[in-house]
Amino acid sequence: MNTTNLDAIPRDRLPALLQAMPKAELHIHIEGSLEPELIFALAKRNGVSLPYPSVEALRAAYAFTDLQSFLDIYYAGASVLLKEEDFFDMAMAYFQRAKADNVVHAELFFDPQTHTDRGVPFATVIDGLVRACETAQRELGISALLIMCFLRHLSEEAAFETLEQALPHRDKFVGVGLDSGERGNPPEKFARVFARCRELGLHLVAHAGEEGPAAYISTALDVLKVERIDHGVRCVEDPALVKRLAAERVPLTVCPLSNVKLCVYGTMADHNLATLLADGLCVTVNSDDPAYFGGYMNQNFLETFAALPQLGPREAHQLAANSFEASFVDEARKQAWRAELDRVFAAV
Ligand code: ADE
Ligand code: ZN
Repeated sequence: MNTTNLDAIPRDRLPALLQAMPKAELHIHIEGSLEPELIFALAKRNGVSLPYPSVEALRAAYAFTDLQSFLDIYYAGASVLLKEEDFFDMAMAYFQRAKADNVVHAELFFDPQTHTDRGVPFATVIDGLVRACETAQRELGISALLIMCFLRHLSEEAAFETLEQALPHRDKFVGVGLDSGERGNPPEKFARVFARCRELGLHLVAHAGEEGPAAYISTALDVLKVERIDHGVRCVEDPALVKRLAAERVPLTVCPLSNVKLCVYGTMADHNLATLLADGLCVTVNSDDPAYFGGYMNQNFLETFAALPQLGPREAHQLAANSFEASFVDEARKQAWRAELDRVFAAV
């Protein structure tokens, strides 16, 4: 229970607080953490040729007009990942950044089909990631869980095949998600495979209401029976849905820098995060694909709070508390992080 008077904290303390507060990241595509420098280093190590002459030329191509324009470059970047060591190095680079931002817990999405369709074995992908998660816990004190995503532009049959490949590794990931191009690929396309994952006791999440309509959020909840919605910002187009999300405290893993980079909003000042929070939704802040969108967790917090005057210390505390509430860990660990969060705010 927080006993600090959050409204008495001066606004000029915000940047330091946002930096220092412990937080969980629940929406990070690990392939989206591949920085251009690492893409080039792995391309050299693996003898892969890239369609860009230099790091600068690649970075210059990061001018996206929508989700698909990003995904085309994102899948090209992932083509340098071939060996277990590559997946390990990629994830460790992310964990170092997460540590610097006081992320104490991360739930990492990975896209096996992006790799298995190029001939990389499922085991290579997941074993590299699991080894990085174990190393992050041991050496950095960050806890991490893996969530396997199905690519929604591919068929449900392909998702079932991926699930088959994943089953021998069932103990290495805690849930499944749904990502890639949203428009024209509604949640119900994956009804059967999500039902099967539910039977297997996996946690369920899905991207919905990023570029797709609010109706996709409703069907993700009602048909797929997901526990969290990734993005979900277009829920505001359906006021009854907003009320439902608040009443049921369905977490929305919002990614502010991503939304601006992919032109969901014109500028950060247009973002609806503060409104959603004021409406009582369990909103969290996340980085999505930080290497492509201009920053990791704290950059997302800093830019969002700088652009939205409704956000102050109370909202900072709420967003961090929401990230723990929405995570897939047991209550005791959530309580411990919550207590640490309250200690940081009490020490201001
Ligand atoms: N894959 C990686 N980032 C994504 C995003 N923002 N939306 C959908 N699929 C993704
Ligand atoms: Zn995403």
